[in-house]
Amino acid sequence: MAGNTFGKLFKVTSFGESHGEAVGCVIDGCPAGMALSESDIQAELDKRKPSEGIASTKRTELDKAKILSGVFEGKTTGAPIAIIVQNEDSRPKDYGSIAKLFRPGHADYTYFKKYGLRDYRGGGRSSGRETIARVAAGAIAKKILAQKGITISGFVSEIGGIEAKNFSEKDVAKVYENQFRVPDKEASKKIEDAVKKSIIAKDSLGGIIEIRASGVPAGLGEPVFEKLDAQIAGALMGIGAVKGVEIGAGFGCAKSTGSKNNDPIRIVKGEVSFMSNNAGGILGGVSSGQEIIVRAAVKPTSSIAQKQKTISENMVNADIEVIGRHDVCIAPRVLPVAECMVAIVLVNALLENLGSKISESK
Ligand SMILES: Cc1cc2nc3c(=O)[nH]c(=O)nc-3n(C[C@H](O)[C@H](O)[C@H](O)COP(=O)(O)O)c2cc1C
Repeated sequence: MAGNTFGKLFKVTSFGESHGEAVGCVIDGCPAGMALSESDIQAELDKRKPSEGIASTKRTELDKAKILSGVFEGKTTGAPIAIIVQNEDSRPKDYGSIAKLFRPGHADYTYFKKYGLRDYRGGGRSSGRETIARVAAGAIAKKILAQKGITISGFVSEIGGIEAKNFSEKDVAKVYENQFRVPDKEASKKIEDAVKKSIIAKDSLGGIIEIRASGVPAGLGEPVFEKLDAQIAGALMGIGAVKGVEIGAGFGCAKSTGSKNNDPIRIVKGEVSFMSNNAGGILGGVSSGQEIIVRAAVKPTSSIAQKQKTISENMVNADIEVIGRHDVCIAPRVLPVAECMVAIVLVNALLENLGSKISESK
């Protein structure tokens, strides 16, 4: 199985299955000399854990990160950093009755066609649990970025078609205190009602997440095939259940005009200043110095308690009832994963930029 390594200079390899022994990652290319502890990684992993709220799975995992290598006396050494998280609350028996059936909306059928066999326990490699690897690596990437004055924040902007509209930067900063990661109290209340209805209907809901990277200097990104926006889109589309990505005005720009969509530029108090940010902070695949703004569409959770039509491994029609513990909406749990993937892309872009020019541009 290829495709488990991401990034060129800050290179992350993810391993492990949902109901196997453990999940984790190996990071090669982390600069030496940075203070790093398990608590740095834990802080991000805790954001990925199921919340206490009604929308989330009841699988109770501690998700305790253990650093196996690459850190000496509290500092990164430049050697590969291996991080492992044990699986503690796996219940393969939940999947025994559907071991030979393909769950609609999951990778069961396609993995079977590709490999001729599959780990049916919770989707194996295609499980959301694999994203622990990305969050562990992303925690380190976020720490590197913070040292360069770059911060990444995010929130859920929509669940079940209910949009968060009235919120401030302060609400965004506290978003992980809200079970839906929605920074708008009124929208959050409506979402709670929608989630309750969805549970009764044995159904699930989709959502939209927004990620913002602030303090990104102008000049990051490698044209032409590795444009910064292309890399961010690839990084986010690589997360399970993400079915669409937009940068800045995104799909909305198709309905706009050049005069409205272009972001005018002025010099204000001696500094370059854009008067709007429809580009989402990226022009020609290179960061403009504005905030990078990205949104991703998250599909409704595939595992629903309703009876569904499917087929078996021996190609016979069947009905399936997916038991086990699943989130009504995955968007709140995809959020920290997406933040971390954007962080990994930006760290790679920063490291790549070290060799991009001899002299400073004006
Ligand atoms: C953090 C996270 C948690 C997830 N949890 C669930 C879940 O509880 N139930 C489910 O059906 N899918 C869950 N998924 C999504 C599936 O992994 C994904 O939809 C499936 O593998 C099919 O891949 P695709 O949607 O990208 O085509 C989760 C994804 C992520 C990133």
